[in-house]
Amino acid sequence: MMKRALRQLRRLLSPALRRPDLLASEELEAGLDVVYRFLLARGADEGGRRHYLRLMREEGMKLREVAAEIAASDEFQRRLKRRTGRFNEQLTDAPPPEGFVDVRELMNTLSVAELAATAEDYFRKTIDFADRYLAKPLADPHDAPDLLGSFAQLLGGLRLAPGMAVLDFGAGTCWTTRFLTQLGCAVTAVDVSATALALGRDLFTRLPPLGDRPEPRFLLFDGYRIELPDASVDRIVCFDAFHHVPNPADVMRELARVLRPGGIAGFSEPGPNHSKAATSQYEMKNFTALENDVVMADIWRWARAAGFSGLELAIFSTESCRVSLQQFEDLVAGGAPLDEYGERLRGFLTGHQMFFLRKGEQTIDSRDRDGLRGEIAIHLERAEVRGGEPLRGRATVQNVGDAVWLPGQTLVGGVNLGVHLRTRDGRPLAVDFQRIGLETSTVPGQAQVVDFAFAPPAPGEYLLEFDLVSEGVGWFEMNGSATATVAIAVR
Ligand SMILES: C[S@@+](CC[C@H](N)C(=O)[O-])C[C@H]1O[C@@H](n2cnc3c(N)ncnc32)[C@H](O)[C@@H]1O
Repeated sequence: MMKRALRQLRRLLSPALRRPDLLASEELEAGLDVVYRFLLARGADEGGRRHYLRLMREEGMKLREVAAEIAASDEFQRRLKRRTGRFNEQLTDAPPPEGFVDVRELMNTLSVAELAATAEDYFRKTIDFADRYLAKPLADPHDAPDLLGSFAQLLGGLRLAPGMAVLDFGAGTCWTTRFLTQLGCAVTAVDVSATALALGRDLFTRLPPLGDRPEPRFLLFDGYRIELPDASVDRIVCFDAFHHVPNPADVMRELARVLRPGGIAGFSEPGPNHSKAATSQYEMKNFTALENDVVMADIWRWARAAGFSGLELAIFSTESCRVSLQQFEDLVAGGAPLDEYGERLRGFLTGHQMFFLRKGEQTIDSRDRDGLRGEIAIHLERAEVRGGEPLRGRATVQNVGDAVWLPGQTLVGGVNLGVHLRTRDGRPLAVDFQRIGLETSTVPGQAQVVDFAFAPPAPGEYLLEFDLVSEGVGWFEMNGSATATVAIAVR
């Protein structure tokens, strides 16, 4: 590809390459600019422009020599490497090598059940690497940044909340299941390989999640039907697994069936040329594992037919672009765009597609911290009480955010009114001094009025600060809502 570009460049510049001395000054500059754009995908910077124009004008350097010098630079070499980098699945002009496996032929030759059996075989044959599987995503320093970086992006796009039911489709040996469980989700790990799922159980025994977390379920998949009821999960995670599925339209229908309306299915998958990549060819040749291309137009067609209503793709990269202090400061200040980063990003995205499918209108509830906003008004019956006498009053709370508040008794995400006890000068005495339960759910825009009565603190003078709280999620004040404070005296 680079050779072809150089041939094109030579044709374009041939007069200038031969006799730069015959060229006018503007033509020299234009020629230099073409060389820069071809080789470095950017125009000449001021320093480079001045340097090469001087060499050409004063020392008779030819444009061809300038091109050779730029081609020997670190910047060009880095670009060259990126084009063939490990995430880049762009096609090359090279003819297919001997023994090339055509993925379509593989799918036409083997049935869904036979391909599921090859997935199981893969884990059985490589069981000696069990500890390596279980150490994922930290089994290998080379793979870890990409696995962790992609998973982080997937988590962000899924808008997970503790207590959600999550299907981990193609969970393999279940490192993602374990992370999702640690986050408080009730996870069902689904895979066609019984051996992978058994290793997954083993992972939970050897490294149980910390704290009180829902038990995961491990569910063997026959390649056709996911043994879960309709509309029974809030989220679906599919990390590096959908491209192994030989009947994607059918499986997409199953995923849409088990997802609740308002739910999101997030996928992290390779690109449209994946089957031709060297690692895929190796896997298909040695393990008959299906390594299919992921063509987004097909995915969206199957998804729409299955009942999904929205598709979003993520523009991201797990590879950073290191720059000088000057470039960094220019960029942050809104200056020079990073051509190099754009180029690298494009290369990454050819081999890495992250997408989110939505089913119906998404409703946010109070398990999601971002949508929490409330207003509180407090009216106390009396601001001064005798010890033993209850403090009585009325609270009016209004939902001014985007999230539906779940009823107060809901274990995770139930919204209640909390009371902090403070000294008159604002020092905290008891953060969790009282809870005033809100029994029903509250939709955005709606207000609730609740009467309360609770035992006062020991005699003294205090402040009572009222704040809304989503249980297990956070206080509304942390999201920018105002609290309501009243002064009391207990005699
Ligand atoms: C590359 S692994 C990824 C596993 C896991 N998500 C992870 O990140 O470690 C692909 C997984 O897809 C599973 N798989 C293969 N064919 C499948 C199918 N038809 N349906 C569901 N899972 C399948 C394999 O058994 C394997 O566990």
